[in-house]
Amino acid sequence: MREQHQDSKKIYLQPTPVRIWHWLNAIGIVTLGISGAQIRFPEYLNIFGSYKAAIELHNAAGLLVAFSFSLWFFYYTLIARKMAQIYVPTRDDLERGLIRQSIFYFFNYFRGKPNPHHPTPDNKFNPLQKSAYLAIMFVLVPMVSLTGILLMNVGPLREMVLMIGGLKILVGMHFLLACSLGAFLFTHVYLATLGTTPLAYFKPMWTGWEEVEEHDLEDAKSHSH
Ligand code: HEM
Repeated sequence: MREQHQDSKKIYLQPTPVRIWHWLNAIGIVTLGISGAQIRFPEYLNIFGSYKAAIELHNAAGLLVAFSFSLWFFYYTLIARKMAQIYVPTRDDLERGLIRQSIFYFFNYFRGKPNPHHPTPDNKFNPLQKSAYLAIMFVLVPMVSLTGILLMNVGPLREMVLMIGGLKILVGMHFLLACSLGAFLFTHVYLATLGTTPLAYFKPMWTGWEEVEEHDLEDAKSHSH
């Protein structure tokens, strides 16, 4: 879907289900991080009044993340049918793209050079985004959720908890996975501000539409063939 807009064009980059998922997920995960910090360090933090309130909020936010994750998963696999196309890096992405994109973020961005990747609805992510988002959405979020679901049901799921190595190991795993998610989140939000303006990448995640220069659009088309 494309729309004429003065000298630049607009492309519809982020469909509504993706935007709903993303912001519900962001609210859920930030809430999980804050309430989780209180649950882990109750002697230092009391943000939500009581320990019990923090646990209840943490469980509710966990359900929100699980619900929005399903929305994301079903949308990309069953409706858009392009989960692999969007999220799995190609051979060229791994052999050349990762280095090209890293050079941009570490050096060329600061020298005012343009981003080597131009998103299109069928090739939204640069090679670094693809690799990071694949790991986050297919490994980290499912693993934090799984260890969290086990922790919510240690009684009924006792056998599984023991299989993993007991409650201490499970709590440790859940905490370390959550810390990794926190590390991703800081990097993610920082990198999201590196567009032509600090909010340039936020707009499409809010409105769906991304404004692109016509020559970038041509460039993106020629790379996808
Ligand atoms: C305050 C929190 C957050 C902010 C401000 C934020 C911001 C953004 C922005 C601006 C984009 C669009 C640009 C891009 O694709 O990089 C984006 C995409 C994305 N974000 Fe976030 N994000 C947040 C939290 C999260 C969390 C917690 C996760 C996962 C656990 C996440 C996963 C993703 C993924 C997978 C995409 C690509 C989605 C798609 O187009 O399919 N974000 N985010």
